[in-house]
Amino acid sequence: LMAVALLAALFAATAVYAFRTGATVSTSEPHTLKLGHSLDQGHPVHAALEFMAERLDEKSSGTLRMEVIPNGQLGAETECVSLVQRGVIAMTKVSAAPLENFVPEMAIFGVPYVFEDEQHYWRVLESDLGRELLLAGEKQGLHGLCYYDAGARSFYTVSKPILEPADLAGLLIRVQESPTSIAMVEALGGSPTPVDFSDLYTNLQQGVLDGAENNPPSFYTNRHYEVCKQYSLDEHTRTPDLLVISQRWWSRLNTQQQQWLAEAAAESAEFERQLWKEKTEEALTKSKEKGVEVYTPDLQAFREQVKPLLESYRGSRVGDLIDRIQKMADDP
Ligand code: GCU
Repeated sequence: LMAVALLAALFAATAVYAFRTGATVSTSEPHTLKLGHSLDQGHPVHAALEFMAERLDEKSSGTLRMEVIPNGQLGAETECVSLVQRGVIAMTKVSAAPLENFVPEMAIFGVPYVFEDEQHYWRVLESDLGRELLLAGEKQGLHGLCYYDAGARSFYTVSKPILEPADLAGLLIRVQESPTSIAMVEALGGSPTPVDFSDLYTNLQQGVLDGAENNPPSFYTNRHYEVCKQYSLDEHTRTPDLLVISQRWWSRLNTQQQQWLAEAAAESAEFERQLWKEKTEEALTKSKEKGVEVYTPDLQAFREQVKPLLESYRGSRVGDLIDRIQKMADDP
């Protein structure tokens, strides 16, 4: 109910002002860009967004501001994307997985073991292909500003550790709202069920789910370690977060304002990438202190198991993207 009231107020205050009048965003009056996202305030990506807000404030001498609203308060990720698309809010930070529902190319980030390792992943994100994917949402009204590191996603479970794909048999595993994430867990032998990130803790606690999958900082900051004591670093996907601004808002900013935003985004992405490594280590150490067993299973069986899934994309747009990504595996 609070979210609805908040949204109604937002719509009245911002959307009507900026879009019914068709006005450009003025440079003389302070202007605030609202950003909704799903993560906790203790998460490194939230810290990067706050850092960006500070940078933007400085660059624009307070005329262009960002208000970061965390914890899914404005709705789940797909809801936030749709609000951004319609220009009700200006921005969101969203995982590439649910973004797949709007930008089909994002599917490649949900395909398991498409990247050899972290270096390969960054090589792709920083290449022409990475830039192409960041802007792939333009037609859908979604302008990508930068990627945030979201590491690798791995399975965690309440009781049974996942040391090989066979261990997933019969387990109900929460996935993000993404067709490719569903296909990934199915290919590995588990039973996938999409649940909003903000409902996940309760679902795990009530025993509705046997496990989930995510990166260590998200596992830790959302206290999933309280329920899931087995964490297997199988690193099946590397799914980045994207910072997205509504095309409607973007096109109403002048060149100077666009430049401030682009620069602040780039600086926050760099900031986050440094912080990510430290926070990942910290999350694993602290989780172990809280009684979580952390495993590093042999990945060979996992990679073998998903080969038919990768093959199934052959000849499609996603299949072509997979080919382009795999060709970059051995580049320097
Ligand atoms: C990651 C990602 C979030 C997403 C979450 C999820 O933590 O950064 O944007 O909401 O995964 O699994 O839903």
